[in-house]
Amino acid sequence: MSKKMTITAIKRAKGERKLTMITAYDALFARLFAPIADILLVGDSLNMSFAGRGDTLSATLDQMLYHTNAVCAGAPEAFVICDMPFGTFYDSATALHHCLRVYQETPADAVKIEGGTSHAAIIRHLTCNGIAVCGHIGLLPQAVRAEGGYKVKGKDEASALSLIEDAKALEAAGAFAIVIEGVKADVAARVARSVTIPLIGIGAGAEVDGQVLVFSDMLGLYEPFTPKFVKKYLDGAALIKEAVQSYKNEVESDHFPSTEHTY
Ligand code: KIV
Repeated sequence: MSKKMTITAIKRAKGERKLTMITAYDALFARLFAPIADILLVGDSLNMSFAGRGDTLSATLDQMLYHTNAVCAGAPEAFVICDMPFGTFYDSATALHHCLRVYQETPADAVKIEGGTSHAAIIRHLTCNGIAVCGHIGLLPQAVRAEGGYKVKGKDEASALSLIEDAKALEAAGAFAIVIEGVKADVAARVARSVTIPLIGIGAGAEVDGQVLVFSDMLGLYEPFTPKFVKKYLDGAALIKEAVQSYKNEVESDHFPSTEHTY
């Protein structure tokens, strides 16, 4: 990421090149990802991998602000999206109040809000008040308790049409991009074709305008569960355990610290 992305550049990428979004939760990883990825997402998925909770619902706005500030500090050149946590956007006034906190208390470029047609009016209120919003449709992790699990969407024509309506409603509300999660690939492709803003997929096949992955999944760091759509580009857990085991072995055998690592 040599030059900072802009909303205009993100929108213009549609049909020209695929966008790469990755989650980041802290300065350490943000610094590594920023020169490569187009967009860093401070996802509320951090509540699972970093806070060890069973789902994303207990993430708080204060936690998201803390992590967003850490990511922005580590990668000031990155285009950073702060995920709005569960319960922070149940009506327009509440959503605006909380999104203003994101803009006033962090340098984040945009927010992400889960929900389709049902949330279009709220997103319209935000965009009219100067907040850049990335939508999120399809499988909504924040609906996991209400829906009794993570349910893939777009399995029948009614669901496909409803996703197309969701995307169109968010585009009309002023969203600059939309994340589409857990949707049959052929349906996601139809949704991508139905809007002029980029559709960024996660578990939604290849015929969309970009991809997003949770970094701890794609680096093989999160062991409890790996969704089918995740490709592990690294076996991070095994490498880390091996390194810590070597450290322990060398401590116990008096090989660490050697003179090289001693004042
Ligand atoms: O919280 C998150 O990491 C997300 C991605 C799954 C898109 O919303």
